[in-house]
Amino acid sequence: MSSPHSALLAPSLLAGDHANLAASARLVEDLGVKWLHLDLMDGHFVPNLTFGPETLAALRRAGSKLFFDTHLMLAEPQRYIEAFAKAGSNLISIHIEPAYDHRATLARIRALGCQCGIVLNPGTPAAALEPLLDAVDLVLVMTVQPGFGGQPFRRDMLPKLQQIDAWRRERRLNFRLEVDGGIDLTNAIECHAAGADTFVAGTSFFKAGDKSAFTAAFAKL
Ligand code: DX5
Ligand code: ZN
Repeated sequence: MSSPHSALLAPSLLAGDHANLAASARLVEDLGVKWLHLDLMDGHFVPNLTFGPETLAALRRAGSKLFFDTHLMLAEPQRYIEAFAKAGSNLISIHIEPAYDHRATLARIRALGCQCGIVLNPGTPAAALEPLLDAVDLVLVMTVQPGFGGQPFRRDMLPKLQQIDAWRRERRLNFRLEVDGGIDLTNAIECHAAGADTFVAGTSFFKAGDKSAFTAAFAKL
C-alpha cells in the first residue's frame, strides 16, 4: 500500500442511463465525486460500441465540471486524440496492444493540454508498458477483458498491480494506478493493498442503493 495518491473513485458512465447521460453525470457530480470514467469503443479493438467525442462535448455543454477520465478502446487511438481533447477530456488513456507510436501519442496528448494514461489488457504483461512509465500520468490495469460492463473481477491481476507499484516506488514516479472492471468495495480493498489508487466502478456504483455511502467508503480506502 504505497501509492503516493489518496483513493479516488471514477464512476463509469457506461453503466449510466444512455437515454440521459447528462443526468447520470449530474448524479455523480452532485455526490461530490470529482472523476467520471468515459469508455469509448470502436467495434474493432473491442466487440462493442458506445459513444463518441460529441457525447463528451454535449456533457460539457450541459454543465459538467467533472474530470473526464477518457478510456479509448480503439484500434487507432492516435487518430482521435485531438477530437477528445477538444471535446473536453482531462485525461486520455490509450491501450498498449495495438501497434502505433505509443510514446509519440502520449506526448501529443500532453501537448494538447490533457493528462495521459496507458492501459493494459488482462492478457498483456506489465513488462509491455515498463519502458513508458516515465511518460504517463496514469497506468490503467484492466481487471476484465474490455468491451462490456458487469463482468467479474479478475483477482489474478493483483500481482500485476504489485509489480507496477514496485516500479513506481523504485523509480520515484508519480503516476496514478487505476483499476477497471468488476470493481466493488470488497475487491477495491485488495487492489488498494496491491498499490491501486484510482477505482473505476460502473455496475457497482450505479446499482448501489446508497450512492453517498458507497462513495464515502471509497474515499476511506
Ligand atoms: C469495460 C470498461 C469499464 C466498464 C466497467 O470495458 O472499460 O470501464 O465500464 O464496468 P463494470 O464496473 O461494470 O465492470
Ligand atoms: Zn473503462
